[in-house]
Amino acid sequence: MDLPINSTPHIHPHAFAVSARERAELLRQTPGIVWFTGLSAAGKSTIASAVDVVLHRNGKHSFLLDGDTLRTGLCRDLGFSNEHRHENIRRVSEVSRLMADAGLLVLVCSISPFAADRQLARAIAGPHRFIEVHVHVPVAVAERRDPKGLYKLARQGAIKDFTGIDSPYEEPTTPDIRINTTQCSVADAVALIARRLGRT
Ligand SMILES: Nc1ncnc2c1ncn2[C@@H]1O[C@H](COP(=O)(O)OP(=O)(O)OP(=O)(O)O)[C@@H](O)[C@H]1O
Ligand SMILES: [Mg+2]
Repeated sequence: MDLPINSTPHIHPHAFAVSARERAELLRQTPGIVWFTGLSAAGKSTIASAVDVVLHRNGKHSFLLDGDTLRTGLCRDLGFSNEHRHENIRRVSEVSRLMADAGLLVLVCSISPFAADRQLARAIAGPHRFIEVHVHVPVAVAERRDPKGLYKLARQGAIKDFTGIDSPYEEPTTPDIRINTTQCSVADAVALIARRLGRT
């Protein structure tokens, strides 16, 4: 995917004296971005947090970028229209790119319901170091779990544009990893992702 070029004149990107490779070598790890996509209550944050703990215990430098947290800061001005969802993904992708350039293993949790936006995320973050994890669950199961009570509010009409209810979720057709959380335990999901990271 070709990324749009900044048309603002007089922008001269800084040539870093320390390269991303040198930073990664110092940290003795291969940086990467693990992008968790899926419905609300699918289990993205639960699994990503558990991966974060395992990486940390194994001496890896990781960081979790969680959608809800980002929407209280970096993306606090954004709502849930298609346009705002797109801008949300763009910002989070840019931040994850910078963090990976700094040498980190970045875990991103974002519903990211649109295929085009996920494609953009991969392009911005760097396709060679991007792992898309589809955390899958049927809407009915997510709705039964409803840990934040959001599905209930969406059904009542108190929340609009809620993914899976009145806003679509475009299922990834070729994710790098697919985890069905009605069948796969958190521990098994973590092991699967850790194995994959071990190979990068
Ligand atoms: N196998 C499983 N893997 C992950 N979560 C599970 C699993 N089985 C049950 N759960 C439960 O499902 C819920 C998932 O909630 P979680 O906050 O992780 O979802 P999320 O995808 O991050 O949602 P949101 O997009 O709203 O942040 C938790 O209550 C968790 O305990
Ligand atoms: Mg979450």
